[in-house]
Amino acid sequence: MSNNLDASSNSNVLARGRLAMLGAHLIPSELPHHDILQTLPLSAQLPPPNLAGTLTLVDDRTGKSYQLQVSKDGTVKASDLKKISAGQNDKGLKLYDPGYLNTAPVRSAISYIDGDEGVLRYRGYPIEELAEKSTFTEVSYLIMYGSLPSESQLAEWKFAISQHSALPQGVLDIIQSMPHDAHPMGVLVNAMSALSVFHPDANPALRGLDIYDSKQIRDKQITRVIGKITTIAAAVYLRMAGRPPVLPSNHLSYTENFLYMLDSFGNRSYKPNPRLTHALDIIFILHAEHEMNCSTSAVRHLASSGVDVYTAIAGAVGALYGPLHGGANEAVLKMLSEIGTAQNIPEFIEGVKARKRKLSGFGHRVYKNYDPRAKVLRKLAEEVFAIVGWDPLIEVAVALEKVALSDEYFIKRKLYPNVDFYSGLIYRAMGFPPEYFTVLFAIPRMAGYMAHWRESLDDPDTKIMRPQQVYIGECLRHYTPINARTTSSDADKLGDVAMSNASKRRLAGSGL
Ligand code: ACO
Repeated sequence: MSNNLDASSNSNVLARGRLAMLGAHLIPSELPHHDILQTLPLSAQLPPPNLAGTLTLVDDRTGKSYQLQVSKDGTVKASDLKKISAGQNDKGLKLYDPGYLNTAPVRSAISYIDGDEGVLRYRGYPIEELAEKSTFTEVSYLIMYGSLPSESQLAEWKFAISQHSALPQGVLDIIQSMPHDAHPMGVLVNAMSALSVFHPDANPALRGLDIYDSKQIRDKQITRVIGKITTIAAAVYLRMAGRPPVLPSNHLSYTENFLYMLDSFGNRSYKPNPRLTHALDIIFILHAEHEMNCSTSAVRHLASSGVDVYTAIAGAVGALYGPLHGGANEAVLKMLSEIGTAQNIPEFIEGVKARKRKLSGFGHRVYKNYDPRAKVLRKLAEEVFAIVGWDPLIEVAVALEKVALSDEYFIKRKLYPNVDFYSGLIYRAMGFPPEYFTVLFAIPRMAGYMAHWRESLDDPDTKIMRPQQVYIGECLRHYTPINARTTSSDADKLGDVAMSNASKRRLAGSGL
């Protein structure tokens, strides 16, 4: 098994490799994306159906029938089910939906997914078309405000973002003060939450619940988050590399400025490689938004309490960190490295089928077909490798995908590669250490988070999120004094909490 993922040792080497490649590939910076992605087919067209009507339910317990309204979107109001009751002690029918498999707590106009067809659109535009023709800056405007920007709108957007890209020194100090081996996503959570305390002007707890009613205040927080995330992410990276933070440059594109902060060593005339910049820009487009995934729904959940937007975003970054969500790209690379060579794939697949582990980067709650973003990334990997050199793990990835897609276990469960399957290989080829991959996911996802935050503020249906539970505990008990209690041996109790040797040493002393 190869162990080339010792990230902290690799980060400097890989970054040096990336720097070494840059000079050799300086070509005009306006390289159009279609040079990279021109052969990708667009995802299918689907007409929006009108599903309005009524639904008649007969409760076999009581013989009563109920009529429910079905909206044109094909939904019934879960609260309408409350009126269906079996009798006196029944407070009404509830939906039991662990993991929200079939519950829509919001209506949204931001992105559309058809998981069976492998379709993803931002504001109606197919993801493949945006990846081919647009830029992340333009796409983030589209996601936020609903339309592609005019030339002057785009210029204003770029200007506002760059004007808000600098960080308060206190946030940089917090990043620097983290333990040397802290995971970059843990540092990012702290930095995002620190923005909350450094921007009391935008805190509803201090300035009143209605401050976000002002478009000006909302837009300021949007440009702050999108402007500052690259500066924070760069500072997190430079801390790992043991280098001081670099100030952002406001005459470079969004993605260029990010790479500039990573690689310039503060040399103001430094320009990142344009082809790598474009490749990363496409990756940013692909990761910008994905409707009510775990972290975006966390933004909406937290924001529904009226908390400041930075705390809501910090919570979302925490959700993104998890290996079942945005952290899967890091897990994929670890998995591919463990597999090592294509010969080891059959044994690995048998282990997955025996449920010893999961095939990271495969499967999705919504996509029951090939994730359209994975298709773009698979192609993009070739472009990146052409610049920075071939990665032998891509052969393991392609062979693994082929075996999995022809295996009954994966076919039956409709498990296909997701966005994280190929992104890790691209990031590694670009010189990023695996524990930094999810930070690269978080940067563009700020656009989606902020668009959902903004949409939730305008939605008249928004309410504090407060799901129900099905109570399955003891019905009613009365307090017994401690000396009258009996405990059964199979009752749940505190297990063995190991004491560290250091604690034993301390306790062996006296005077504490
Ligand atoms: N490897 C092996 N089996 C899998 C995998 C996988 N990657 N994913 C799902 N399955 C199996 C499950 O074991 C289950 O089998 P069973 O019905 O026999 O019990 C079946 O497929 C359905 O899986 P669920 O876990 O119920 O599906 P769910 O929608 O809850 O989970 C998830 C989706 C979490 C993404 C899952 O597919 C997974 O864990 N994948 C690996 C992690 C990953 O790549 N996450 C990134 C997702 S993309 C993103 O968040 C950006």
